[in-house]
Amino acid sequence: MKVLVTGGAGFIGSFIVEEVMDRGWEVIVVDDLSTGNLSFVPEGVSFYNVDICSPSLEHVFLLHNPDVVIHQAAQVSVEFSNHHPLKDCEINALGTLNILKLCAKYNVSKLVYASSAAVYGMAKEVPLTEEHNVLPISFYGLSKYTAEQYIHLYHKLYGLSYTILRYSNVYGMRQNMHSEAGVVSIFVNKAINNQTLTVYGDGSQTRDFIFVRDIAKANIQAAQYSGSETFNISTNQPISLNDLIVELQKSTNHLLEIDYKSARTGDIKDSYLSYELANHLLEWEPQTSFESGIKETIAYYQSLVKIEKFV
Ligand SMILES: NC(=O)c1ccc[n+]([C@@H]2O[C@H](COP(=O)([O-])OP(=O)(O)OC[C@H]3O[C@@H](n4cnc5c(N)ncnc54)[C@H](O)[C@@H]3O)[C@@H](O)[C@H]2O)c1
Repeated sequence: MKVLVTGGAGFIGSFIVEEVMDRGWEVIVVDDLSTGNLSFVPEGVSFYNVDICSPSLEHVFLLHNPDVVIHQAAQVSVEFSNHHPLKDCEINALGTLNILKLCAKYNVSKLVYASSAAVYGMAKEVPLTEEHNVLPISFYGLSKYTAEQYIHLYHKLYGLSYTILRYSNVYGMRQNMHSEAGVVSIFVNKAINNQTLTVYGDGSQTRDFIFVRDIAKANIQAAQYSGSETFNISTNQPISLNDLIVELQKSTNHLLEIDYKSARTGDIKDSYLSYELANHLLEWEPQTSFESGIKETIAYYQSLVKIEKFV
């Protein structure tokens, strides 16, 4: 099987590339390296530094004729989207549309799309299921949802098979610690450098933190799923920032200094998502406990610090 991974040099995409390779499938990566890192792409992978919005993306489809496209490339910052909605829409909605057009033209048998819990907006009840109202409260949530709607129409009009995965909060190795997306990687890095952690609010706000390898495995199941469906990919477990801090203190053996600041307006208080549908139809469930995921993440960032010191 030939699998094209867009955003394959990114945090999540690079783990998907590894999973695809483990199965002996051929993998092709498209990434413009805007936030990705070429060193995350394993050797031997066909790599194209191409913008998903560009007409030259067609060359990749023409050359490789992929069976499956796993589409991860995106503008991923909520804050950026709210300051630059046009650019966010261009990459996330129009970039996806460019991919859809090529999937239809080159008879791709499955599109797997990385969507987000951000499409739901404020949770009316938890756990959030796929039936919950969709009412994004950021331009990022809106552009991710707009792409979902284009996918639905490509399925209806052209028979393109899709699997949409709405991820909860993903954490793990290789996450860009400078982006606002990854509170875990930011806290892990501060913790191993003995720096103060800043918490907005009292730290009781919860998130559904899911380990990156579990996300990658869900993409593999999604690539092989014969139906066309939308799934939450999550742990169904609320974990508060205070829980995260306790876990970090345990794993690093440090008493961490915490600076509690007043809550930011617009921040979501509690969020966790049910993955029952994915469990039922994709035969997928998360395998990694929060404790072991955090331990592996800390070990990864500690090894980077050691390399930096050595160099
Ligand atoms: N990290 C999370 O918690 C999370 C949660 C929900 C959904 N998602 C989705 O998962 C996907 C992967 O996100 P990530 O966290 O790995 O972020 P990331 O920034 O590490 O990965 C995105 C990748 O896409 C590439 N890219 C960006 N714009 C591009 C363009 N125009 N053309 C080609 N490549 C481009 C970047 O260089 C990067 O390698 C995204 O679609 C994101 O919306 C992530």
